[in-house]
Order: sequence, then C-alpha cells, then structure tokens
Amino acid sequence: MGLATAAWLTSHRAGRVVLNGRSAPSPEVDERLTELAAQGTDIRVVLGDAAEPGVAERLVAAATADVTLRGVVHSAMVLQDAALTTITRDQLHGVWHPKVFGAARLHETTEGLPLDWFVLYSSISSLLGILGQGSYASANSWLDGFADWRSAQGLPTISINWGIWGEIGAGMIFKERGYQTIPTGEGLHALETILAHGRRHAGLLPGGPTAWIPPSGRSLPVFQAVIQDGGTQAAAEDDGPADIRARLRAAAAGVPRRTLLEEYLGEHLRVVLRLNQRTLDPDTPLRSFGFDSLLALELRSRLEPALGITLPGNFIWKYPTIAALAGGLADFAGLALDGDDGP
Ligand SMILES: NC(=O)c1ccc[n+]([C@@H]2O[C@H](COP(=O)([O-])OP(=O)(O)OC[C@H]3O[C@@H](n4cnc5c(N)ncnc54)[C@H](OP(=O)(O)O)[C@@H]3O)[C@@H](O)[C@H]2O)c1
Repeated sequence: MGLATAAWLTSHRAGRVVLNGRSAPSPEVDERLTELAAQGTDIRVVLGDAAEPGVAERLVAAATADVTLRGVVHSAMVLQDAALTTITRDQLHGVWHPKVFGAARLHETTEGLPLDWFVLYSSISSLLGILGQGSYASANSWLDGFADWRSAQGLPTISINWGIWGEIGAGMIFKERGYQTIPTGEGLHALETILAHGRRHAGLLPGGPTAWIPPSGRSLPVFQAVIQDGGTQAAAEDDGPADIRARLRAAAAGVPRRTLLEEYLGEHLRVVLRLNQRTLDPDTPLRSFGFDSLLALELRSRLEPALGITLPGNFIWKYPTIAALAGGLADFAGLALDGDDGP
C-alpha cells in the first residue's frame, strides 16, 4: 500500500517521494520505482527500521535536501496474530514496534516542519476488534488516539481505518477467499477525498456495512450512521436462531436432527467466511473455503455461547468438513443426534 501511495503521489506530480523499508526493494518493485521516476518524480529509497533512532532523521534529510517536505504517510506494519490469552510480550512488541514507535519517531523528527498532512494507515481492526488480532488492533487504536493528540496541538493528522485492500498488500488472501475488499483505485480515490476534507479520522469498509461489522458491534454509536435501522434485524439474522439446543430437541432423531445442526453450522460459517447466501455442502473440506486458524477462532467464539459449552483451542480445527464438525460438536456437547432420547 505504501508503494501504491507513492504511485498515486507520482501521478499527482509530487516533486520527490522518499520510500522506506527495512529490506531492499525486490527486482519487481525496483522496476516499478524506475517507471515512477520516469514520470518525473524524484524517487528515493532509504533503508532502515523506522522505529530505530536515526532512521526517521535520514528519511527527512533525504526528503528535505533542496525541497520542502509537505507530507508523511506512515504505513509500516508487521503482523503477528494470536488469540488474546496467548499473546506474548515479544509478539506484542513485534506489532507495536513499526506502527507505534515508527509513528512516534516520524512525529518527533517532523514536528517543526510545515507539513500539509501526516497520514497514519490504521485499520478497521481498531474499530471492530478482529479476533486474533489483539496486538494489531491495539497498535492501530494507539494510532487513532495519536491522531487526536497531534491534532489537538495544531499538527495536521489523519488516521485512516482501512478495511481490507484486495489487490495489493497483506490482505490479498481475503479477496482470494471471496471477501469483499477495497480495489486499489477506490482506496486511493478515498485517500484523496479524505485528504481534501481534512478529516482527523475516516474509515473505509468494502461492501455493505454488515459484511464486516459483526452483530455485536452494530449497535455501537460509531456505526449507527452507516447501519441505520437495518442493524438490529441483520444482527438477529446473522446470529442464527438463539436456542439451537431446543430446536435440536424438537427435531426427530437421526437425519432431521443432524441436518438441522449442519445447517446451523453452515449459517455461522457463512457469516464467518462472509459468503452471503451461498449454500455450503456439508462434505466440502472447510479448508477449500480458505478456513484458517483465525476463522476457526471466530467460529468457536460464536458456537460456544450458543451451545453453552467451552471448546478446547484446537477443537474445530480437527474436523475437516461441516458434517464431521457437526458429529464432533454433538458428541462434545452431549447432543444425541441419532439417539432416541433427544439432546
Ligand atoms: N493491506 C490491508 O488490507 C490493510 C488493511 C487495513 C490497514 N492496513 C494498513 O496499511 C498499512 C500497509 O499495509 P500493507 O498491506 O501494505 O502492509 P505490507 O504489505 O505488510 O507492508 C508493510 C511494509 O512495512 C515495512 N516495514 C515493516 N516494519 C518496518 C519497520 N520497522 N521500518 C520500516 N518499514 C517497515 C515492510 O517492509 P520491510 O519488511 O522491508 O521492512 C513493508 O514494506 C499497514 O500499516 C496496515 O496496518 C492495511
């Protein structure tokens, strides 16, 4: 996204763009930078860890040699996903280091310069609290607060809570899985609009609001304007029927009861996988939908309260299909799917 931002700046005739990363550009990126330079922008690359002392100074020195620095975009990140209860200090630090300490260094180094904008690439995770991304969400939340803190001192700052970009960057896997994502052109258009309006905060979610905002978050004031009155109803629909145990008990033992549980699991999976109305075959391998450990965590957190159980951490991961998972869950929860007594 940093490179796309550089290309966007070049297309707007920026005089100079200084790019930073810890590792040297790949041959493909190098080629792209040469193309950008051919459009008339002075492209420079300064290598180094932006959170370490001296690097922001080198960046600013490269940017201000004979021209005035007008804008900063902070898009560095490292991801280390883990469930909240298992996050280690090292993982937390690994995620906070580039985002938080990198932002602080850039702030300290540019504080006295006449910037038009200082843009922080935050994420929708700090508004939604994506499961398994506690470190990342908290680091982005820090950026959101930092934007307020800087703005209060008259320093122009914008924190953008980006949804997932599908064509470039670390979120491409989500597009492959069928999620609604932000096309690069739309993201850059949004960036331009946000800059033009001088916002302190802005968020961009691809697709309809309910594609990304979980039912539990839809009543939050921050989302009211985008969800309006559809939120409560959509939340109820997405949560599925509340008392699945009672419905299973009422269904005849054997195939009807098993089908009911498989359909119920399919409902939750559709929400977790953001598959809209698509029908899920109970025997299709879950991995073929891009199901991974983060999504398994999300599914577990939906099923546990509904079924009134606490599942072992790797439980869902052990079952390759909906049909297998239905059987495993029924056993674990003491639901007699095929028995005469009913669950
Ligand atoms: N992709 C999305 O869908 C999405 C969604 C919401 C928010 N965002 C935000 O947008 C930003 C860009 O995302 P992306 O997808 O483009 O990420 P990315 O592809 O993972 O790129 C991150 C960049 O940060 C650099 N970096 C990491 N640590 C650094 C450090 N200490 N000092 C300097 N550079 C460092 C990496 O280069 P080296 O490894 O060479 O250092 C890499 O070029 C991130 O802040 C992310 O939180 C992205």
